[in-house]
Amino acid sequence: MREAGAILGAPIDRVDGRLKVTGGAKYAAEFAPEGLVHAVAVQSTVAKGRVEAIDAAEARAMPGVIAVLTHENAPALQKLKVGDPKSGHAGEDLPPLSGDEIHFAGQYVALVVAEELPQARRAAYAVKVRYREEKPVLTIEDAEPTATYPKENNGRPVQHRRGDAAAALADPAAVRVEATYTLPVETHNPMELHATTAHWSGGALTVWDATQAVIGVRNALSTAFGLDKDKVHVICPFVGGGFGSKGAQWPHVFASAMAAKAVERPVRLVVSRAQMFQSVGHRPPIVQKMALAASRDGRLTAIRHETTTPTSPVSTFIEPCGRTTSALLYACENADIPQKLVRVNVAAPTFMRAPGEASGTFAIESAMDELAVALDMDPIALRVKNHADVNGTNQKPFSSKHLKECYARGAEKFGWDRRDRRPGSMTDGGTLVGWGMATALYPANRWEASALIRVSPDGTALVRAATQDLGTGAYTVLTQAAADALGIPVEKVRFELGDSSFPEAPVSGGSNTTASVSEAIVQTAAALRRQLGGSDADTSMSIAELVRRGGRTVEATATAKPPEEKDKKFDSHSFGAQFCEVRIDPLLPRVQVSRWVSVMNAGRVMNLKTGRSQIMGGIVMGIGMALLEHTVYDPRTGRPVTASLADYLVPVNADVGTIDVEFVGEPDPAINTLGCRGIGEIGITGAAAAVANAVYHATGKRVRDLPITPDKLL
Ligand code: MOS
Repeated sequence: MREAGAILGAPIDRVDGRLKVTGGAKYAAEFAPEGLVHAVAVQSTVAKGRVEAIDAAEARAMPGVIAVLTHENAPALQKLKVGDPKSGHAGEDLPPLSGDEIHFAGQYVALVVAEELPQARRAAYAVKVRYREEKPVLTIEDAEPTATYPKENNGRPVQHRRGDAAAALADPAAVRVEATYTLPVETHNPMELHATTAHWSGGALTVWDATQAVIGVRNALSTAFGLDKDKVHVICPFVGGGFGSKGAQWPHVFASAMAAKAVERPVRLVVSRAQMFQSVGHRPPIVQKMALAASRDGRLTAIRHETTTPTSPVSTFIEPCGRTTSALLYACENADIPQKLVRVNVAAPTFMRAPGEASGTFAIESAMDELAVALDMDPIALRVKNHADVNGTNQKPFSSKHLKECYARGAEKFGWDRRDRRPGSMTDGGTLVGWGMATALYPANRWEASALIRVSPDGTALVRAATQDLGTGAYTVLTQAAADALGIPVEKVRFELGDSSFPEAPVSGGSNTTASVSEAIVQTAAALRRQLGGSDADTSMSIAELVRRGGRTVEATATAKPPEEKDKKFDSHSFGAQFCEVRIDPLLPRVQVSRWVSVMNAGRVMNLKTGRSQIMGGIVMGIGMALLEHTVYDPRTGRPVTASLADYLVPVNADVGTIDVEFVGEPDPAINTLGCRGIGEIGITGAAAAVANAVYHATGKRVRDLPITPDKLL
């Protein structure tokens, strides 16, 4: 008997909602240790060259200024590694202020520390930097001589080839589609600015940081400053959005701790909105060359998907677009999926919501739409015909896939059978109406995680894990997981996260948190049950009841390790179907997304309300990707000219029509005990393609270069 069993999936309100709307939730830039001072970074205005001289005399003499740090006087830090996302890693491999060489515009060249923020900001403008400028390489085309085909990315392969795609593409009987799809740079714009407050005391460092990885920040700072891990304490109870930009540790994290050490005062460093366009990552610009071949009846015979992305001189980041999409999305014997990397003098790119899957599905799902047109076939029928039961990259069967159900249910809700396939054939008054669809997918990641649970005889429980809640609902769904495991109502469970002194949990990236940390909770509860003399199998009495009868508080900590890749019999991936309606005035071809239906399979959904919100948020971000988002760089200086929310557009309510989100399927037994997968990223996948396909249907114009702005439809 598990009294709280019905709690899993229940659309309960966010347990932290009240704190957020009443201002009680404290963010990284709101912690103010005694004696707090403020730092402002001075960033390079040139993209390549050397710092010849820095004249900070005027800045140092300004009111309130305590110190100006440059590469000439800053404490040296250990070199950092852009590496394993699980253990935390720097966004740039060069510590801030570690030399005079300039690799990109926006690189930190000085740090001003002052009593008050306005004083620091004013003084930052007074720091005079003289550069010896060199000609930067700024575009993929210009960087061609630096091209490589890297073998792997964070330990995962990025290249893939099976069968003979070239031969299948050369078959004269094949129906072929060849096209190149391009994406501009996109910049994450979470509402909360990146910020770190750093405080040294007795050789130990405490930082309040806006991060997706408290353990990552702890590890990175311990490396940079040569400290034992237990001498670094990272606190982050709330995050105002991250989307991947807060997954790595960027220069401000190290710079704030460096400044606090130098001035022997606690230091807060807030990265301004403008600075966030060149020092906390972005989605790189991406070129994807696609070639598909199919038999006349629509069976895919070849998929070629070549991706080119740039990285920065200070990074090794790769956005692998084909390996995580085209390589496994459809059943096809012949696949050639190369990934090419070039190096440009631009700040480091990083993970941005579904890195590889959001971008890769734009290419493959647009190309599939083009193939459906070439075959004069319904785009859903084409996809169903090529449905994959096994992952073509590892030959493992997908667990709990349910994609055909997603197509069918989505089509039914959307009214797809009323679609007239001919472009421009559907109108409403003078407005062109277009219906497009695309497939969504995202891997079901699960990484090692630990938790602590303490249950008291009064029927309350405390649960702790060093995970994060980016605004996604982690507090809520993990509280539900604990309530269910312990037999305690959610109101009586206190779940704490965002503290590196808690049992370790992974970076909140790769949509892994729900799958990883819920399992840590389940296994810690099992350890408690054993401690109480119960067996794993005997759940006739809840843990809460056992503790009540025992009459004393009990506590356990346990670590949930996922199986090794080689021991997994199944491949866990989430899939879904996106359906989009656009309306376009032919005289002023601004694309309005009027209606959206999304049907997803993500295993067990832990909370229908936060779950729907996650998918909806992904779709809204996908609409931004399709129609608005575009970081523009000045081709002469390499500096972003769209460095504000007035110039860098993201969707507002008026840009978004109705969004209907539904989940199908059952818990996925291959992923963990509860069968739940993370859902933070899948919502954006397929979204841009669904919009582009709808735009084609409305207008007959195939836009292969995002964003789809009115000029591309004239
Ligand atoms: Mo997500 S882009 O892996 O934080």
